[in-house]
Amino acid sequence: MAGMTDTAFRRLVKRHGGCGLVVTEMVSSEGLVRGIDRTLEYAEYTEDERPVSIQIFGGDPEKMAAAAQVVEGMGANIVDVNMGCPVRKIARHDAGCSLMRQPEHAASVIRAMTRAVKIPVTVKMRAGWNDGQRNAPELARRVQDAGAAAVTIHGRTAEQSYSGFADWDLVSRVADELSIPVFGSGDCLEPQQVIDRLQSGVSGVLVGRGVLRNPWILAQAFDIAAGRPPRVVTMTERGQFLLDYIGLLLDERVNEDEGFRHVAPGITDHGLRTTDNGPRTTRHDRWVINKLRALCSWYSKGLDNGSHLRVRVNRAESIAELREIVDEFFLASPAVPA
Ligand SMILES: Cc1cc2nc3c(=O)[nH]c(=O)nc-3n(C[C@H](O)[C@H](O)[C@H](O)COP(=O)(O)O)c2cc1C
Repeated sequence: MAGMTDTAFRRLVKRHGGCGLVVTEMVSSEGLVRGIDRTLEYAEYTEDERPVSIQIFGGDPEKMAAAAQVVEGMGANIVDVNMGCPVRKIARHDAGCSLMRQPEHAASVIRAMTRAVKIPVTVKMRAGWNDGQRNAPELARRVQDAGAAAVTIHGRTAEQSYSGFADWDLVSRVADELSIPVFGSGDCLEPQQVIDRLQSGVSGVLVGRGVLRNPWILAQAFDIAAGRPPRVVTMTERGQFLLDYIGLLLDERVNEDEGFRHVAPGITDHGLRTTDNGPRTTRHDRWVINKLRALCSWYSKGLDNGSHLRVRVNRAESIAELREIVDEFFLASPAVPA
């Protein structure tokens, strides 16, 4: 998820259990191929996250094929194509959800990619462009014929953005019609919803916002599936998650084993990272603070006094202050379930 699910976050979610596959935030195919774009860091992943899928966006078949080769060269397990992003700066370049309006062209992108790489090429799409064009069933079939190994459908149209609800009937229908695995996405905000959706004929469920609010949602769904009551998460554990996240972000690239982190060719140093044994840069601290602000805008939802946490984190000016806020907010009443 753009801006949110970096490698540190994904590693932490995996550690808590129940998570089968992680997907990187979307990465520009152009940036990946040119190797000069700072956004290349979005493609990074670590060994702890496997199996990992790198999602790319773009609309040019040749560039998408070349980008898929970069992804394959990075050792990722899967390359996923974004055909669902409605954000204007992506969609206006024939990428993201714009591809849903040009099914033949979308299929040619997938064909070029599947010819270029051996790893599975998968597609993430929406229900359609708008209510008049709910063409996920047609597009899914076309990309299947073009060689896609699996498809995920977020059951909203691009026009809906995040309003209304995901249409899981449509997702089930596509799952029924295709021979490749079909995954569903949309509105799995509670562990029981994950379980309910898994029974709709799909091969799996992708959880987005629910994980940002509650990184234990997948482990809790796993508990339910195993016939156990979902685990109770205490405020202490919730606070510790944030402290661990801060720690992992601060320690990016510090004393990591050879082969642990996989980076796109062209990544050198953005000046954001820590150096071995050296002082942390103010810029790196600022980056960590901004990451915490972004996560807390989701993580605080549903917590008593969540808005209080949000406001305080948004005002924090240093890592020490951030840690203090987390300690005060979460650890003052450690035994209380969140
Ligand atoms: C902040 C944010 C960033 C997202 N970024 C991406 C992305 O980079 N690629 C993608 O395929 N979907 C992205 N999505 C969409 C989600 O993957 C998902 O399909 C959608 O949020 C519906 O599922 P949910 O109800 O479980 O959140 C994003 C959603 C949000 C809220």
